[in-house]
Amino acid sequence: SRHNILAPSILSANFNHLGEDIQTVISAGAEYLHIDVMDGMFVPSISFGMPVIKSIRKEQNCFFDVHLMVQDPGRYIDDFVSCGADSITVHAEACTHLHRVVQSIKSKGVRAAVALNPSTPLNVLDYVMDDLDMVLIMTVNPGFGGQSYIPQMTEKILELRKKIQESGRNIDIQVDGGVNDQTIHTVLDAGANILVAGSAVFKGELAEKVKRYLNIMKEY
Ligand code: DX5
Ligand code: ZN
Repeated sequence: SRHNILAPSILSANFNHLGEDIQTVISAGAEYLHIDVMDGMFVPSISFGMPVIKSIRKEQNCFFDVHLMVQDPGRYIDDFVSCGADSITVHAEACTHLHRVVQSIKSKGVRAAVALNPSTPLNVLDYVMDDLDMVLIMTVNPGFGGQSYIPQMTEKILELRKKIQESGRNIDIQVDGGVNDQTIHTVLDAGANILVAGSAVFKGELAEKVKRYLNIMKEY
């Protein structure tokens, strides 16, 4: 059976008590910590970078799922590995030489993933798919937490699940953006197995939300 993982995104956390909130979601059973790095170029916002990740790593040994919304992310792979990333996701749209960047991530011994914006077709993955551990389907346009799920992405997840099945390889499908009580079943039904949730988890009762989503995910 499928291994479903919840990845709370700290982008929506209260940074005044970030460490405690991270401990709360991890203790409640979330397996990944989703870490959104934004550079003000690839996306309009600037979030946080290496020093913050490094500080969290001093207190946390959970899985760091680092999502780079950064132009030319190949410049920073070494830095993110040394500050504690376990998985690095780069955007296909942000890399002139995507294949090279993927190889560089793998050569560092961490998991490699590629993210696709909503308007980017799946076929950009055709010649790198065999090197990936995970594909991230953005279900909102990246840049901000709290946006609404784009309904056309359900079909994209389904198509990716089909491609992966045909390839016979075990590649995770992550979805990111607008995952909440209303959309969680939709993305699970379509075949996503790693669910990012930012505002849905961090704007409320953290532990309760994590446990509720994990219970839903167990049914798939
Ligand atoms: C958006 C980020 C997401 C964000 C999701 O650009 O990549 O990880 O935190 O937030 P929600 O779950 O609120 O849509
Ligand atoms: Zn993200």
